[in-house]
Amino acid sequence: MAPRRKKIYEGKAKILYEGPEPGTLIQYFKDDATAFNAQKKAVFEGKGVLNNRLSEYFMTGLGNVGVPTHFIRTLNMREQLIRQVEIIPLEVIVRNFAAGSIAKRLGLEEGLALPRPVVEYSYKNDALGDPMVSEEYIVAFGWANQQDLDDIVALALRVNDFLSGVFYAVGIKLIDFKIEIGRVWDGDFMRLIVADEISPDSCRLWDVKTGQKLDKDVFRRDLGSLTDAYTEVARRLGVLPTNATAMAKPTLIN
Ligand code: TMP
Repeated sequence: MAPRRKKIYEGKAKILYEGPEPGTLIQYFKDDATAFNAQKKAVFEGKGVLNNRLSEYFMTGLGNVGVPTHFIRTLNMREQLIRQVEIIPLEVIVRNFAAGSIAKRLGLEEGLALPRPVVEYSYKNDALGDPMVSEEYIVAFGWANQQDLDDIVALALRVNDFLSGVFYAVGIKLIDFKIEIGRVWDGDFMRLIVADEISPDSCRLWDVKTGQKLDKDVFRRDLGSLTDAYTEVARRLGVLPTNATAMAKPTLIN
Protein backbone atom coordinates (compact mmCIF):
# COMPACT_ATOMS: atom_id res chain seq x y z
CA MET A 1 0.00 0.00 0.00
CA ALA A 2 1.14 3.51 -0.72
CA PRO A 3 1.90 5.40 2.47
CA ARG A 4 -0.43 8.20 3.56
CA ARG A 5 0.88 11.56 2.38
CA LYS A 6 -0.21 14.41 0.19
CA LYS A 7 -1.01 13.25 -3.32
CA ILE A 8 -0.12 15.86 -5.94
CA TYR A 9 -1.23 14.02 -9.08
CA GLU A 10 -2.36 10.56 -10.14
CA GLY A 11 -1.78 9.40 -13.70
CA LYS A 12 -2.45 6.09 -15.43
CA ALA A 13 0.77 4.36 -14.34
CA LYS A 14 2.22 6.59 -11.63
CA ILE A 15 1.33 8.72 -8.62
CA LEU A 16 3.18 11.85 -7.51
CA TYR A 17 3.34 12.69 -3.81
CA GLU A 18 4.72 15.72 -2.03
CA GLY A 19 8.46 15.27 -1.42
CA PRO A 20 10.41 15.71 1.81
CA GLU A 21 11.90 19.05 0.73
CA PRO A 22 10.62 21.94 -1.38
CA GLY A 23 11.26 21.32 -5.06
CA THR A 24 11.09 17.53 -4.69
CA LEU A 25 8.37 14.95 -5.33
CA ILE A 26 8.02 11.23 -4.73
CA GLN A 27 7.15 9.25 -7.85
CA TYR A 28 5.28 5.99 -7.15
CA PHE A 29 5.11 3.35 -9.91
CA LYS A 30 1.78 1.47 -10.09
CA ASP A 31 1.22 -1.97 -11.58
CA ASP A 32 -1.53 -0.59 -13.84
CA ALA A 33 -1.12 -0.63 -17.60
CA THR A 34 -3.33 1.21 -20.06
CA ALA A 35 -3.37 1.41 -23.83
CA PHE A 36 -5.29 3.24 -26.53
CA ASN A 37 -5.95 6.21 -24.25
CA ALA A 38 -7.03 3.96 -21.36
CA GLN A 39 -9.68 2.11 -23.35
CA LYS A 40 -7.74 -1.05 -22.52
CA LYS A 41 -6.65 -1.58 -18.91
CA ALA A 42 -4.99 -4.29 -16.83
CA VAL A 43 -2.87 -4.76 -13.74
CA PHE A 44 0.43 -6.66 -13.96
CA GLU A 45 1.85 -7.64 -10.60
CA GLY A 46 5.42 -6.42 -10.33
CA LYS A 47 5.36 -4.04 -13.33
CA GLY A 48 5.74 -0.98 -11.09
CA VAL A 49 8.76 -2.50 -9.34
CA LEU A 50 10.43 -3.24 -12.67
CA ASN A 51 9.71 0.20 -14.13
CA ASN A 52 10.95 1.97 -10.99
CA ARG A 53 14.23 0.07 -11.27
CA LEU A 54 14.55 0.47 -15.04
CA SER A 55 13.75 4.19 -14.99
CA GLU A 56 16.34 4.65 -12.23
CA TYR A 57 18.88 2.79 -14.37
CA PHE A 58 18.29 4.85 -17.53
CA MET A 59 18.03 8.21 -15.75
CA THR A 60 21.22 7.53 -13.75
CA GLY A 61 23.03 6.50 -16.93
CA LEU A 62 21.87 9.65 -18.69
CA GLY A 63 23.06 11.74 -15.74
CA ASN A 64 26.46 10.04 -15.98
CA VAL A 65 26.86 11.15 -19.60
CA GLY A 66 25.74 14.70 -18.84
CA VAL A 67 22.06 14.59 -19.78
CA PRO A 68 20.10 16.30 -16.98
CA THR A 69 17.11 14.40 -15.57
CA HIS A 70 14.64 14.75 -12.72
CA PHE A 71 15.93 11.63 -10.93
CA ILE A 72 17.46 12.15 -7.46
CA ARG A 73 17.45 8.71 -5.82
CA THR A 74 15.45 5.54 -5.36
CA LEU A 75 13.57 5.38 -2.08
CA ASN A 76 12.18 1.84 -2.17
CA MET A 77 10.91 -0.84 -4.57
CA ARG A 78 8.20 1.37 -6.04
CA GLU A 79 9.24 4.93 -5.28
CA GLN A 80 11.89 7.39 -6.31
CA LEU A 81 12.69 10.92 -5.23
CA ILE A 82 12.60 13.34 -8.15
CA ARG A 83 12.99 17.05 -8.79
CA GLN A 84 9.70 18.86 -9.15
CA VAL A 85 9.45 20.25 -12.66
CA GLU A 86 6.92 22.13 -14.71
CA ILE A 87 6.03 19.54 -17.33
CA ILE A 88 5.88 20.79 -20.91
CA PRO A 89 2.58 19.32 -22.18
CA LEU A 90 4.23 17.36 -25.00
CA GLU A 91 5.10 13.75 -25.64
CA VAL A 92 8.46 13.92 -27.39
CA ILE A 93 8.78 10.83 -29.57
CA VAL A 94 11.97 9.65 -31.28
CA ARG A 95 11.76 6.92 -33.92
CA ASN A 96 14.63 4.89 -35.40
CA PHE A 97 12.51 2.24 -37.15
CA ALA A 98 8.93 2.38 -38.38
CA ALA A 99 6.31 0.96 -35.99
CA GLY A 100 2.99 1.92 -34.43
CA SER A 101 1.38 5.15 -35.54
CA ILE A 102 4.03 6.22 -38.10
CA ALA A 103 3.76 2.82 -39.83
CA LYS A 104 0.00 3.25 -40.00
CA ARG A 105 0.07 6.94 -41.00
CA LEU A 106 2.58 6.51 -43.83
CA GLY A 107 1.86 2.91 -44.82
CA LEU A 108 5.34 1.73 -43.82
CA GLU A 109 6.25 -1.82 -42.96
CA GLU A 110 6.97 -2.22 -39.24
CA GLY A 111 10.71 -2.59 -38.66
CA LEU A 112 11.78 -0.49 -41.66
CA ALA A 113 14.90 1.52 -40.77
CA LEU A 114 14.15 5.24 -41.04
CA PRO A 115 16.64 7.37 -43.03
CA ARG A 116 17.58 9.11 -39.75
CA PRO A 117 16.09 9.41 -36.27
CA VAL A 118 12.80 11.27 -36.52
CA VAL A 119 11.52 13.48 -33.69
CA GLU A 120 7.81 14.23 -33.42
CA TYR A 121 5.44 15.63 -30.82
CA SER A 122 2.02 14.89 -29.40
CA TYR A 123 0.04 17.33 -27.30
CA LYS A 124 -0.56 15.71 -23.89
CA ASN A 125 -4.32 15.81 -23.62
CA ASP A 126 -6.25 12.61 -22.89
CA ALA A 127 -9.60 14.13 -23.86
CA LEU A 128 -8.22 14.76 -27.35
CA GLY A 129 -6.30 11.45 -27.53
CA ASP A 130 -2.84 13.11 -27.51
CA PRO A 131 -2.95 14.51 -31.07
CA MET A 132 0.25 14.88 -33.07
CA VAL A 133 1.34 18.52 -33.32
CA SER A 134 3.97 20.43 -35.29
CA GLU A 135 6.68 22.79 -34.01
CA GLU A 136 4.55 25.57 -35.51
CA TYR A 137 1.62 24.62 -33.22
CA ILE A 138 3.92 24.32 -30.19
CA VAL A 139 5.36 27.81 -30.62
CA ALA A 140 2.04 29.39 -31.67
CA PHE A 141 0.19 28.04 -28.63
CA GLY A 142 3.07 28.92 -26.32
CA TRP A 143 3.82 25.42 -24.96
CA ALA A 144 7.49 26.03 -25.77
CA ASN A 145 9.47 28.63 -27.72
CA GLN A 146 11.93 28.02 -30.55
CA GLN A 147 14.94 27.99 -28.19
CA ASP A 148 13.17 25.42 -25.98
CA LEU A 149 12.46 23.31 -29.06
CA ASP A 150 16.11 23.37 -30.12
CA ASP A 151 17.04 22.22 -26.61
CA ILE A 152 14.30 19.56 -26.60
CA VAL A 153 15.48 18.08 -29.92
CA ALA A 154 19.10 18.06 -28.69
CA LEU A 155 18.05 16.32 -25.45
CA ALA A 156 15.85 13.81 -27.29
CA LEU A 157 18.64 12.87 -29.71
CA ARG A 158 21.17 12.46 -26.88
CA VAL A 159 18.71 10.22 -25.04
CA ASN A 160 18.22 8.27 -28.28
CA ASP A 161 21.96 7.74 -28.78
CA PHE A 162 22.45 6.68 -25.17
CA LEU A 163 19.46 4.32 -25.02
CA SER A 164 20.13 2.82 -28.47
CA GLY A 165 23.65 1.87 -27.37
CA VAL A 166 22.64 0.54 -23.97
CA PHE A 167 19.92 -1.65 -25.51
CA TYR A 168 21.96 -2.81 -28.50
CA ALA A 169 24.66 -4.04 -26.12
CA VAL A 170 22.13 -6.52 -24.68
CA GLY A 171 20.66 -7.60 -28.01
CA ILE A 172 17.70 -5.22 -28.10
CA LYS A 173 16.80 -2.80 -30.88
CA LEU A 174 15.36 0.54 -29.76
CA ILE A 175 12.59 1.03 -32.31
CA ASP A 176 11.16 4.22 -30.78
CA PHE A 177 10.43 5.87 -27.43
CA LYS A 178 8.65 8.74 -25.77
CA ILE A 179 10.05 11.16 -23.21
CA GLU A 180 8.65 14.12 -21.36
CA ILE A 181 10.57 17.28 -20.63
CA GLY A 182 10.27 19.53 -17.59
CA ARG A 183 11.36 23.06 -16.75
CA VAL A 184 13.36 23.80 -13.61
CA TRP A 185 14.52 27.16 -12.37
CA ASP A 186 17.84 27.94 -10.72
CA GLY A 187 17.05 31.51 -9.69
CA ASP A 188 16.07 33.31 -12.89
CA PHE A 189 17.80 30.74 -15.07
CA MET A 190 15.48 28.16 -16.65
CA ARG A 191 16.73 24.74 -17.78
CA LEU A 192 15.02 21.82 -19.50
CA ILE A 193 15.53 18.33 -18.08
CA VAL A 194 14.28 14.82 -18.84
CA ALA A 195 11.33 13.99 -16.57
CA ASP A 196 8.54 11.40 -16.14
CA GLU A 197 9.93 7.89 -16.77
CA ILE A 198 11.94 5.83 -19.22
CA SER A 199 10.73 2.24 -19.19
CA PRO A 200 9.33 -0.45 -21.50
CA ASP A 201 5.96 1.31 -21.05
CA SER A 202 7.25 4.19 -23.16
CA CYS A 203 9.65 2.46 -25.59
CA ARG A 204 9.40 -0.11 -28.35
CA LEU A 205 12.04 -2.78 -27.82
CA TRP A 206 12.61 -5.70 -30.17
CA ASP A 207 15.01 -8.58 -29.73
CA VAL A 208 17.77 -8.08 -32.30
CA LYS A 209 17.78 -11.70 -33.47
CA THR A 210 14.14 -12.81 -33.26
CA GLY A 211 12.26 -9.51 -33.40
CA GLN A 212 10.37 -10.55 -30.26
CA LYS A 213 8.63 -7.58 -28.65
CA LEU A 214 9.77 -6.74 -25.10
CA ASP A 215 7.65 -3.63 -24.43
CA LYS A 216 4.07 -2.47 -23.87
CA ASP A 217 3.04 -3.69 -27.35
CA VAL A 218 2.93 -7.13 -25.67
CA PHE A 219 -0.11 -5.82 -23.79
CA ARG A 220 -1.48 -3.57 -26.57
CA ARG A 221 -1.44 -6.48 -29.03
CA ASP A 222 -2.06 -9.41 -26.62
CA LEU A 223 1.27 -11.09 -27.35
CA GLY A 224 1.85 -12.78 -23.97
CA SER A 225 2.99 -11.86 -20.48
CA LEU A 226 3.95 -8.21 -20.05
CA THR A 227 5.74 -8.93 -16.77
CA ASP A 228 7.84 -11.64 -18.42
CA ALA A 229 8.84 -9.23 -21.21
CA TYR A 230 9.86 -6.44 -18.78
CA THR A 231 11.65 -8.97 -16.55
CA GLU A 232 13.67 -10.10 -19.58
CA VAL A 233 14.69 -6.48 -20.31
CA ALA A 234 15.77 -5.97 -16.67
CA ARG A 235 17.57 -9.33 -16.61
CA ARG A 236 19.57 -8.54 -19.77
CA LEU A 237 20.55 -5.14 -18.39
CA GLY A 238 21.59 -6.79 -15.11
CA VAL A 239 19.16 -4.75 -13.02
CA LEU A 240 16.53 -7.33 -12.11
CA PRO A 241 15.25 -6.27 -8.69
CA THR A 242 16.70 -8.86 -6.30
CA ASN A 243 14.41 -8.58 -3.30
CA ALA A 244 11.30 -7.62 -5.20
CA THR A 245 8.66 -8.71 -2.71
CA ALA A 246 6.06 -8.42 -5.45
CA MET A 247 7.87 -11.05 -7.50
CA ALA A 248 10.29 -13.01 -5.35
CA LYS A 249 9.53 -16.55 -4.30
CA PRO A 250 10.02 -17.30 -0.59
CA THR A 251 13.58 -18.30 0.24
CA LEU A 252 14.64 -20.41 3.20
CA ILE A 253 16.91 -18.60 5.64
CA ASN A 254 19.20 -20.92 7.63
P1 TMP B 1 3.10 5.49 -31.44
O1 TMP B 1 3.75 4.70 -32.53
O2 TMP B 1 1.84 4.86 -30.92
O3 TMP B 1 2.90 6.93 -31.82
O4 TMP B 1 4.11 5.48 -30.21
C1 TMP B 1 5.44 5.95 -30.33
C2 TMP B 1 6.20 5.67 -29.05
O5 TMP B 1 5.69 6.43 -27.96
C3 TMP B 1 6.15 4.22 -28.56
O6 TMP B 1 7.43 3.87 -28.05
C4 TMP B 1 5.16 4.21 -27.47
C5 TMP B 1 5.26 5.59 -26.89
N1 TMP B 1 3.99 6.08 -26.41
C6 TMP B 1 3.86 6.45 -25.08
O7 TMP B 1 4.80 6.34 -24.30
N2 TMP B 1 2.67 6.94 -24.66
C7 TMP B 1 1.60 7.09 -25.48
O8 TMP B 1 0.55 7.54 -25.03
C8 TMP B 1 1.74 6.70 -26.85
C9 TMP B 1 0.60 6.82 -27.81
C10 TMP B 1 2.96 6.21 -27.27
